[in-house]
Amino acid sequence: MPTINFIGKDKVSKYHQQVPYKVLNHIDEKSCGESKNKIIHGDNLEVLKSLLPEYQGKIKCIYIDPPYNTGNENWIYNDNVNDPKLQKWLGQVVGREGEDFNRHDKWLCMMYPRLQLMQKLLSDDGAIFISIDDNEQANLKLICNEIFGSQNFVANMIWKNKSGGANDAKNIACDTEHILVYAKNISNLKLNRDTEAKVTTSYNKVDADGRRYSLERLDKQNLGYQPSLDFPITGTDGKIYTVEQKNPEIKLARWRWSKETVQQRYSELVFKFPYVYTKNYEKTTGTIPRNLLVDERFGRTRTGKTELKNILDDVSNFDYPKPTKLIQFLLQLATNKNSIVLDAFAGSGTTAHAVINLNQQDGGDRKFILIEQENYCDSITAERVRRIGGKFNYYELGEEIFINGKINKNISIDQLRDFIYLSETGQHSTSTEKYYLGTFEDTAYYFYYEPDQQTCLDYEFFSTLNDQATYKVIYANTSTLGKKFQSKYNLKFKSIQDDIFTFRGEKL
Ligand SMILES: C[S@@+](CC[C@H](N)C(=O)[O-])C[C@H]1O[C@@H](n2cnc3c(N)ncnc32)[C@H](O)[C@@H]1O
Repeated sequence: MPTINFIGKDKVSKYHQQVPYKVLNHIDEKSCGESKNKIIHGDNLEVLKSLLPEYQGKIKCIYIDPPYNTGNENWIYNDNVNDPKLQKWLGQVVGREGEDFNRHDKWLCMMYPRLQLMQKLLSDDGAIFISIDDNEQANLKLICNEIFGSQNFVANMIWKNKSGGANDAKNIACDTEHILVYAKNISNLKLNRDTEAKVTTSYNKVDADGRRYSLERLDKQNLGYQPSLDFPITGTDGKIYTVEQKNPEIKLARWRWSKETVQQRYSELVFKFPYVYTKNYEKTTGTIPRNLLVDERFGRTRTGKTELKNILDDVSNFDYPKPTKLIQFLLQLATNKNSIVLDAFAGSGTTAHAVINLNQQDGGDRKFILIEQENYCDSITAERVRRIGGKFNYYELGEEIFINGKINKNISIDQLRDFIYLSETGQHSTSTEKYYLGTFEDTAYYFYYEPDQQTCLDYEFFSTLNDQATYKVIYANTSTLGKKFQSKYNLKFKSIQDDIFTFRGEKL
């Protein structure tokens, strides 16, 4: 498979493993109502890493609209790779090699580890949709092929974002953007149908059971000639039907069905001499989605801007929010009523708006997680959701859970307990018992930890445990219980020093 090389790739390709886990601090006064939706203020690299313990493999649909790297420095959307925060990060991660960076290298270094974390967050039947324009589309596709696997490429959707204008374009005016779509695992992806598509076929016949259909000829001129698909068929009227060649000298036409299919599905054929037809039934549940998004129903960039202006007072600097109906369309294809949707480059919060609209439309209970690093996360991203009546919990990215391989003493015991239980089970710990975190899938988890002293898993501690689970996982600083004892009592000792960094078996 062709791969892409860029300055800094060797430094960033495994960098996601080094990104620290941080706590997400809940901010009561910025949150709104009771809900599982989340709006998180912080750099998405660290936020995505911190979401892993709870959400790895659980996100059904990710939509992102990252900076397009247009080189436009004045845009509020932080569209440029010379943003001081990114510069600092690149300096730390890539080092001196970065002195030769061009803006595409920088952009790729920024995206690579973030996409890797998003790949981990996607569920096995999930999909990611990435908006992009021609500044980085080709580069993005190559890194996505590496990160998601080229076999998991689903489509390059083309969205008509402008109509008219652009008369000052130097050569060819570009009216479109791309939305690259990748599945976590193409064999498990089942997108929904497009229920709003305009159907051009006229279904002018009605079956005995009331279903409407049109007739479609079994012979086609333009599928490529194959001798095995050019055979006579005897009709129910006893007549012989053959493929019609417009020019018998140059054979182009053939049947759409093989001999075996004709035999198996003979009863579905309609014979009207000299042609054979199949019935093309009207799809009441929608049509297969197409990659060309040009209809007005997908909105244009200006639709997004007008929409935002109608909700917030001052959006003068927000030039390019996406239209809600575009995102709603994508979510309708890739989610079911209980899915979790993630947008790690949230901007004005269009994705939350689309989730709320879709839930209202079909009675669903989809949840959203939005991440935005700029200070307008509260005043614009969250404020938009507040104004449209959305509910969410607001978080600020907090301190690192581990510093230089040791537990950060500033982290509360509750946050630490929750982190351990989440990384083991993906569930929040609700236990209030000292050391006991909870039981999940017949395994009881203990975190035998004291901030100012070493703990030892010995027989005395073991004999105090009174859960009903068959298996136990116990974290402590040391253990005197040997391998034999552990296996006899279905017990697994995990060292607070070493094993705390593993994450459901995987070192991250
Ligand atoms: C193109 S805008 C997204 C617009 C959004 N789709 C909408 O409809 O409003 C990209 C957003 O990503 C944010 N962003 C850029 N880098 C980020 C990072 N490392 N972490 C979190 N947000 C980031 C920018 O601040 C900006 O708001």
